Amino acid sequence: MKARLTLGSLMLAAALLAAAPAAGLAEQHEEVANPDVKCLKCHTKNLKKKLEDGERMSLRVEVGEFEGSAHSVIGCTGCHRDIGKAKHPSREPIASARAYSQAQNENCRHCHEARFTDYEDSIHASLAHEGDAGAPLCSDCHNAHAVQSMAAYEPVTGEPCKTCHESIYEAYSQSVHGLAVTNGNVIRESHVQAPICADCHQAHSVSAVAASDHLKNTCLECHEGASLAHEQWLPNAGMHLDSISCPACHSPMAERRVDLQLYDRLEQVPMGRGDKHQSVREHVAAIDAEGDGLDPVELWKLVRRASRDGDGADVVLRGRMEVTSGVDAHRIAPRGSAVRSCENCHEGNAKAFQNVTVSISKPDGRKQRVSAESKVLSSPISVDSVGGFYAPGGTRIKLLDGVLALAIFGALAIPVGHIALGKIIRKKEKDQ
Ligand code: HEC
Ligand code: HEC
Ligand code: HEC
Ligand code: HEC
Ligand code: HEC
Ligand code: HEC
Ligand code: HEC
Ligand code: HEC
Ligand code: HEC
Repeated sequence: MKARLTLGSLMLAAALLAAAPAAGLAEQHEEVANPDVKCLKCHTKNLKKKLEDGERMSLRVEVGEFEGSAHSVIGCTGCHRDIGKAKHPSREPIASARAYSQAQNENCRHCHEARFTDYEDSIHASLAHEGDAGAPLCSDCHNAHAVQSMAAYEPVTGEPCKTCHESIYEAYSQSVHGLAVTNGNVIRESHVQAPICADCHQAHSVSAVAASDHLKNTCLECHEGASLAHEQWLPNAGMHLDSISCPACHSPMAERRVDLQLYDRLEQVPMGRGDKHQSVREHVAAIDAEGDGLDPVELWKLVRRASRDGDGADVVLRGRMEVTSGVDAHRIAPRGSAVRSCENCHEGNAKAFQNVTVSISKPDGRKQRVSAESKVLSSPISVDSVGGFYAPGGTRIKLLDGVLALAIFGALAIPVGHIALGKIIRKKEKDQ
């Protein structure tokens, strides 16, 4: 068994070196010549090492798994580069299993530069660097000693994302997409595969969902005809699709809310990205000390302070309707059950408009939120800051509601009508 491992490793390594032009693999030669058998003499035993945090780390490596992995060709010291060069065992203290893992994962960079760089840009990596022990390192998604070929990433099981995002996986697996994947389905004419987690979020450069419009764009890459399809029945479809997240209509049972995000109209970016506007973030955290939700006066004050401390930002609030639960965002249902009727959102006390939050972006793109009273959408005090976001049933726009009612029950389905309506609405807003 051990002999086979060595011989197999050497033969494969030779073949690999002959075939691989990659610069990262160049140093491998010398290391593979240092046979793994030596290491495994000790590391198949049940050795344990006491760590500084008091835990005992098992030092046993499963030979069978390693041998069957994509990495048997590079040998132990392909990754454990320091070992073999110095005296071993070194008895160097190790703070914790996590700290050791983090240090060892740095070695992946030598051979997988591109993946490493993608990962470094991700929300997972920034959380890991901040010390969040729940955020995945390379070896949380790829077992370091049993890296499988990609064919082993059985999409139906949700691996490796399911390990940590279990309830999202459960919701996803019952969605149109999850069911289509389970059934081996492929979209009719275009032969587009139904998406798994990594198709919408990426596997390595996973970013915060609120960071930009990237998810919407991903949907539209597969569903090329969707923008046009919505124009057939939804007036001002482009505006609706910009200000309502896709799951807010396509996950019909989901609870919805309106989020008002502090936004810099000058730079066209959410406030707070990339470590900016720290003091404004502090205002947001402090302003609703009673925790009863921002009232219109508090919101007005917040916007004023944000303008004052915002390094020249032209501060507005950008409204967006979204689902309240990240789990519900994955319950995408067949088109027949999507939210369609205008009353759902445009009736005086439509539920989605009762639930309001105000947010600022954290440096990593996630939102820091504070809840607000629903009247901030319509009160004359805060309405100016709420910019163009049209809140149905609000006092400022009684006239608009009338126009809308006409539109809904009248002949709105013709595009010319929408444009005219849009103009009326905008004029009305300017007049106020
Ligand atoms: C693909 C890179 C890679 C290869 C190849 C590799 N290791 Fe590791 N090893 C790691 C990483 C990363 C860790 C840190 C633990 C983790 O993150 O899972 C680790 C941890 C260890 C540990 C500490 C105990 C543990 O499991 O956490 C031992 C012992 C070890 N490796 C021995 C070996 C031996 C012996 C071989 C060859 C048979 C080998 N390794 C091959 C990457 C590798
Ligand atoms: C003579 C037995 C022996 C051999 C041979 C051996 N190790 Fe170890 N190894 C140990 C012991 C014992 C420890 C625990 C050291 C400690 O407690 O500080 C250890 C620790 C480790 C660790 C955990 C991190 C650390 O440095 O403490 C890794 C990784 C590791 N060995 C990899 C290897 C690799 C790779 C080889 C082959 C190049 C190898 N070992 C050869 C006995 C051995
Ligand atoms: C959150 C989970 C996750 C993390 C963290 C992760 N990966 Fe991956 N990795 C995947 C998935 C899923 C795939 C397969 C799908 C894909 O390539 O999009 C993959 C594929 C790969 C591949 C195969 C690529 C190919 O072209 O076939 C390599 C190499 C790789 N990862 C290396 C790394 C390295 C190095 C790190 C750390 C810097 C890392 N991964 C971190 C989930 C992860
Ligand atoms: C010394 C170079 C080297 C290091 C270091 C290294 N790898 Fe690899 N890795 C390889 C080679 C070579 C392959 C096999 C490529 C192939 O089969 O196309 C591979 C394959 C993989 C694959 C499977 C890709 C596939 O398509 O089957 C993953 C995932 C992966 N490595 C992740 C990691 C992770 C995670 C680390 C760090 C813990 C790491 N690698 C460290 C050289 C390395
Ligand atoms: C069809 C595309 C798509 C697929 C497939 C998908 N997601 Fe999502 N994901 C989204 C959208 C859209 C959102 C929410 C965007 C928003 O709130 O506006 C989201 C949100 C999330 C969030 C943030 C949740 C929160 O609480 O804010 C996580 C984590 C996540 N997804 C993980 C996963 C995992 C794990 C899988 C696979 C089981 C997966 N996603 C599959 C599109 C997708
Ligand atoms: C080892 C655990 C772990 C694994 C594995 C993992 N994640 Fe995460 N992920 C986290 C943690 C922790 C966070 C930050 C807290 C949160 O938002 O749930 C996070 C955050 C996210 C976010 C950002 C959510 C937001 O608030 O914007 C997305 C998207 C995401 N993960 C997708 C994935 C995908 C896709 C995979 C598989 C390729 C995956 N994760 C695998 C632990 C993990
Ligand atoms: C205001 C609610 C609403 C929003 C927002 C919305 N949709 Fe739809 N969508 C619907 C309804 C209702 C249908 C069904 C129309 C029909 O069958 O006549 C539909 C149909 C679809 C279809 C199938 C129809 C086709 O022929 O392409 C896809 C795909 C789709 N939407 C994707 C999206 C995406 C992607 C987004 C986000 C960019 C989105 N939708 C935003 C309500 C909405
Ligand atoms: C990788 C390509 C891909 C991505 C990305 C994608 N979809 Fe899909 N989607 C599909 C496929 C394929 C189907 C058809 C499944 C089937 O056969 O029933 C589908 C079905 C749907 C349906 C049901 C359509 C119907 O006819 O009933 C809706 C709604 C939908 N997707 C919305 C979305 C939304 C919203 C997003 C982004 C959050 C998204 N999709 C992202 C490929 C994709
Ligand atoms: C899922 C909720 C939802 C549904 C369903 C919906 N809308 Fe809207 N609509 C909104 C939101 C949110 C806005 C505010 C967007 C903004 O001002 O940025 C809006 C704005 C409008 C506007 C104002 C446009 C402007 O230029 O400011 C009109 C007109 C309108 N909707 C008509 C309709 C009609 C007609 C229907 C039914 C065919 C419909 N909407 C269905 C949520 C919805």
